[in-house]
Amino acid sequence: MRHFLSTADLTRDTALGLFALAADLKQRRKAGQHSEPLAAKTFALIFEKASLRTRVTFEVGVIQLGGRAVHLVGRDIGLGTRESVPDVARNLSLWVDGIMARVYSHATITALARHATVPVINGLSDLEHPCQALADFFTLWERGLDFGTMRLAWIGDGNNVCHSVMILGALLGASIVVACPPGYEPDAGVQATVRRLGGRLEITEDARAAATGADVLYTDVWTSMGQEAEQEQRLEAFSRYQLNETLVDFAKSSALVMHCLPAHRGEEITDAVLDGKRSIVLEQAENRLHAQKAVMLRLLGGSVDDL
Ligand code: CP
Ligand code: NVA
Repeated sequence: MRHFLSTADLTRDTALGLFALAADLKQRRKAGQHSEPLAAKTFALIFEKASLRTRVTFEVGVIQLGGRAVHLVGRDIGLGTRESVPDVARNLSLWVDGIMARVYSHATITALARHATVPVINGLSDLEHPCQALADFFTLWERGLDFGTMRLAWIGDGNNVCHSVMILGALLGASIVVACPPGYEPDAGVQATVRRLGGRLEITEDARAAATGADVLYTDVWTSMGQEAEQEQRLEAFSRYQLNETLVDFAKSSALVMHCLPAHRGEEITDAVLDGKRSIVLEQAENRLHAQKAVMLRLLGGSVDDL
């Protein structure tokens, strides 16, 4: 793995190896052990869009590993406007050891990776959010879920997070069912990738059928960043896809509720469900830190023996 642009860059074994490394990093952190395997390394963190979790977990993660992070706003550096994306990639590669970028177009992240000579990590694009899905499945792995028998129901928009979850779910052997209104299905190319990986995937318009017997219920905002102009029509299209207590009752009594956050409370999810006893959203958010530290260590060749 040279870059981490998509969960399709992983194999089952790479993912499981990252989970074990993330668990080790988490345990060492909780035990108060400090070490600096990425001492003297520098990461450029580029943001074309807003962020809380990704910004803080990457910046804090680099610092905890002994490195430094440089925060760059896409608009300020003129990514693709003041200067072409390949030129930005070539220049950054002269000064930093790794690049993380949150971008509008997935083509921007693939162009950065093609022209950079250092590892590039996708911190969310319009097509994928691989760091989120890695942290999510790490969270389920920590909780001891059996991926081979697990049914994960995605309720709502077939969006970037959904895509990364679908692909990683397929790699790990989970069964994924996506419930979405017509016209909001996951990308056809991502569906093809999932099927090529032998993934068990269903797409349905029926949220209750999707939730029935699910071990995990996952939802995300109906209007992602960059889609604000479609907000009104999306609110209407998704009105029957709210993750509320009635829908949760169709899932297994042990079912867990996931959301990548930020949540639009009262739209895709109710307060009662988001804050309820099945919700593991804060575990997901915490695990972004540990999972991404594992990714940075692997990509930069830092050894766990250096910890
Ligand atoms: N889940 C997530 O990526 O959160 P931010 O948009 O706050 O980074
Ligand atoms: N689908 C959301 C995820 C935010 C972390 C978005 O792209 O805005």
